[in-house]
Amino acid sequence: MTTIKSVSKESRVFDPPAAFAERARVGSRARYDELYRRSVEDPEGFWAEQARELHWFREPTTIRQWDPPFAKWFEDGTTNLAYNCLDRHVAEGRGDKTAFIWEGEPGETLTLSYAELTREVRRFANALLGAGVAQGDRVVIYMGMVPEAAIAMLACARIGAVHSVIFGGFAADAVRDRILDAGATTVITQDGAWRRGKVVELKAQVDKALESCPEVARTIVLRRTGNEITMAVGRDLEWADVLEGVSDEHEAPALAAEHPLFILYTSGTTGTPKGVLHTTGGYMVGTYVTSKYVFDLRDDDVYWCTADVGWITGHSYIVYGPLANGATVVMYEGAPNHPGLDRFWEIVAKHRVTIFYTAPTAIRAFIKWGDEHPGKHDLGSLRLLGTVGEPINPEAWIWYRRVIGGDRCPIIDTWWQTETGGIMMSPLPGAIAAKPGSCTLPFFGVSPKILREDGSEAGPNEGGYLVIDQPWPSMLRTVWGNEERFRKGYFSRFPGKYFTGDGARRDEDGYFWVMGRVDDVVNVSGHRLGTAELESALVAHPAVAEAAVVARPDELTGQALVAFVTLKGTVTPSAELKKALADHVGEEIGKFARPASVRFADAVPKTRSGKIMRRLLAELAAGKEPAGDVTTLEDISVLAKLRGEDE
Ligand code: WTA
Repeated sequence: MTTIKSVSKESRVFDPPAAFAERARVGSRARYDELYRRSVEDPEGFWAEQARELHWFREPTTIRQWDPPFAKWFEDGTTNLAYNCLDRHVAEGRGDKTAFIWEGEPGETLTLSYAELTREVRRFANALLGAGVAQGDRVVIYMGMVPEAAIAMLACARIGAVHSVIFGGFAADAVRDRILDAGATTVITQDGAWRRGKVVELKAQVDKALESCPEVARTIVLRRTGNEITMAVGRDLEWADVLEGVSDEHEAPALAAEHPLFILYTSGTTGTPKGVLHTTGGYMVGTYVTSKYVFDLRDDDVYWCTADVGWITGHSYIVYGPLANGATVVMYEGAPNHPGLDRFWEIVAKHRVTIFYTAPTAIRAFIKWGDEHPGKHDLGSLRLLGTVGEPINPEAWIWYRRVIGGDRCPIIDTWWQTETGGIMMSPLPGAIAAKPGSCTLPFFGVSPKILREDGSEAGPNEGGYLVIDQPWPSMLRTVWGNEERFRKGYFSRFPGKYFTGDGARRDEDGYFWVMGRVDDVVNVSGHRLGTAELESALVAHPAVAEAAVVARPDELTGQALVAFVTLKGTVTPSAELKKALADHVGEEIGKFARPASVRFADAVPKTRSGKIMRRLLAELAAGKEPAGDVTTLEDISVLAKLRGEDE
């Protein structure tokens, strides 16, 4: 029995541009193959060598311990992640290099050199210690995209306090649940954050959350937007006050490699939030090495990742990975459509960004908004484009390459998860030919397998469950306070192997194609199909910007497909177009996959990190009121609008 049937016909291949490959860190497929083979045949030797590029107070001699599901990396080593991201560069003469170029939503720009950032982090580390924060304490950071968010993270990492960043879009209840689960005693926040020209009142949400969090001893509040806030005497401290007269001398302590670094809550599209725990040494080495090779970082790059620091992408690829490499990182505070639909491209042109890393949800929004917006700006500085977060529809990939990359920049489609800490599969841009929609091949040391229901390995192009059967340095260590959930959620489906929750296939060239979450698989006339491929067929139609496909119960076929479609800005909806789109899928994939119903939608429901929430759409399509958890939904009004939309 086929576990998941693949219906993709995508066959385009894009070789690394010769000019790119010539200067790349890994410049050929043969070189990648050689390094990869070494990394899996001698993982201890390989990772010991990588780790030595960073600073250790005590060099590790034990590299990897694996007692499934528990991994330890570099266990007898001691290090400090903040030291590696900051002091190390200053000590090695790179203090004047720009670390952050920060762009505020209202339009101001601030740059911080490595020397300046090091000073700020040392001062804030002293301020935290002075306020009573100790090693091992949990500190919640609930802020917008301001440099102080990164400073707070780095200061926690520096003193060995365990940070838990909560995305600023979450409201009081979500903040409360996370504070309680983490057992946090300190909350760092700001008066408000800018979002689309409006103030998101963060401190007010914290006040509400703290009504049920008696263990929180203090908050530290940055003033950013100037809105009125209330400060509780004896609990709430001003950011400026805690820094008053504080020294910028601070020696980074040597922390054990397995010292807890951060907890990051992930909700995914189903279930209650779980606190994914990452530790110091392995996470440091993993994000350092992936940043270096996957982004092919060079000294003169201006690197911009558009994620929020509230997500793992912001942790690993705005803060820790790029800074460990001494890169120049752009950080933008606000929305992509403020004040205009071209804001991102204005930023790329203004700061001469060379590497741009974003998510498919953003790319589909750019497509919907129209080509004229990027067209207004000189994007000639770009040399590499990346994507992460969902399977990218091949047509969106092609659009990204052509319109943003000028047919010149390679695209890295990076597959990974909050739990994996760092990138697991991606082309190395100078070495591996890309196929639109495929994350191509595993990164060094990563051992992905595709399994059938019974645990045997699937053959070429046979869809199955994506697992990782060897440990890697930046893997999660546990679910905070819930070892049972860690075992059950990740290591019980296939005992001893890490189950990703994703479906995938491997093609005849060994390339991996992630087909989406297995929870989203639909079953039509006996075919188990991943939704991503069906959606890609719709996105390949010139009228379509975005699509979400779900199944509803059907007497005849068991399940019938319902497609929710967002049209490009210039296209007029009509009954004929609905039929044309259904026919299009039937022709592209086969009659059995023709949607029984196509519904137009201005927007589809998404998680706050931009992933389509198909579960809610499936409930709607079945004529039910969405009953499950909707707290992770980005915009609740989307559901109401969809309910009103007829068939
Ligand atoms: C999905 C984000 C296809 C996948 C770093 C994964 C992807 C989940 C890709 C993790 C990609 C992420 N291609 N699917 N390049 N990247 N995903 O925890 O389903 O927010 O399991 O981490 O996103 O999402 P998370």
